[in-house]
Amino acid sequence: MPEDKSSSEPEIRRGDYAREKGEIILREHEYDGIQEFDQKLPNWWLFTFYAAVAWLVIYWVLYYNTPIIKTDQQKITEEITALHEKKDADLAAAMESITDEALINEWATDASKVASGKTIYTTNCLPCHGADLSATMAVGDQSIPLPGMPLNDGEWKYGGKPREIFKLINEGTPPDSPGHNGAKMQAWGQMLTPIQIAEVTAYLIAENPKDFAQ
Ligand code: HEC
Repeated sequence: MPEDKSSSEPEIRRGDYAREKGEIILREHEYDGIQEFDQKLPNWWLFTFYAAVAWLVIYWVLYYNTPIIKTDQQKITEEITALHEKKDADLAAAMESITDEALINEWATDASKVASGKTIYTTNCLPCHGADLSATMAVGDQSIPLPGMPLNDGEWKYGGKPREIFKLINEGTPPDSPGHNGAKMQAWGQMLTPIQIAEVTAYLIAENPKDFAQ
């Protein structure tokens, strides 16, 4: 305290003084030659800091204790639920018009739909079912089996009606099936829209005219 000190000792100069005089004031302690400035933080800095502390409390209450601000997890759950609902609705709407007859007589005879189906096949299905649908790949003069099943052998393990094929592609190997040599197929409905699955089904129908003659 200044009054306890003898008059010869200088008054302790605090940060306000330093700001007024433009001098740098050091605090009295020193450790290993390291000294510390004694300067008052500017008010704008302090008020920003206090406002941030107050906002922390407000935000914390709103975030964790009220439904006003949703947590990231709530937001994601809601978005995913909405997506699932939309997908289910899209599929239901698509399935109303995509009947067995429509797939054979409209989709598989429409060149542009079959062409898009072929593109989808080439992008997604070819690695396992082969370029010629035989589930084999020619390397030199050898023919190497691929993991998928042939799609040109006239046999449809999970049903040969167009909608059964659609369903298998959409939902993948049924959960209770052991698959093919232990290999199961994923549910392509995760990646493709109902329209795309109908197109790739149309492509398979067009490639197997004997199986789907009406
Ligand atoms: C990672 C490899 C793989 C890919 C990629 C793949 N499949 Fe398959 N697919 C399989 C396997 C394995 C089976 C056999 C599943 C079973 O027996 O349960 C199968 C079976 C099928 C069947 C039933 C065949 C039959 O004889 O009944 C169809 C149809 C089919 N896939 C279509 C498709 C379509 C369309 C795509 C692309 C959108 C595709 N697959 C992509 C591996 C694959």
